[in-house]
Amino acid sequence: MKNIIHFLLLTLTTGISTSLYATDNKHHLGEGLHDKKCISCHNSSVYSRDDRMVKTMSALKSQVNNCMKGAAKAEWTQPETTSVVDFLNDRYYKF
Ligand code: HEC
Repeated sequence: MKNIIHFLLLTLTTGISTSLYATDNKHHLGEGLHDKKCISCHNSSVYSRDDRMVKTMSALKSQVNNCMKGAAKAEWTQPETTSVVDFLNDRYYKF
């Protein structure tokens, strides 16, 4: 039993440290798309200001979709859109 717990702990901590280590590169797609299409009207301070509008993950998804289709006229695929949502969430919103 003890061995199993040790094994689980080891696997868990290795998984966590690997993903922490990878965060720097994980978002190159979302960050690149964002930086190409999304900083002409607002810069990233809208995501971190005190009175920001977006308060939930689902609001973030729909705001990104609205700005992407309407304001930015970008035609991103679903995975591309998701990568931008994930980038904004991990970097700024942290839901
Ligand atoms: C044509 C201008 C324009 C472009 C381009 C644009 N946006 Fe926006 N965006 C806005 C406006 C206007 C607001 C509302 C700002 C405010 O309330 O001060 C906004 C707000 C937002 C917010 C909410 C910020 C908050 O308060 O929490 C997010 C998230 C966002 N935009 C994401 C994006 C993304 C992602 C892109 C690229 C696909 C993008 N925007 C491109 C005009 C734009």
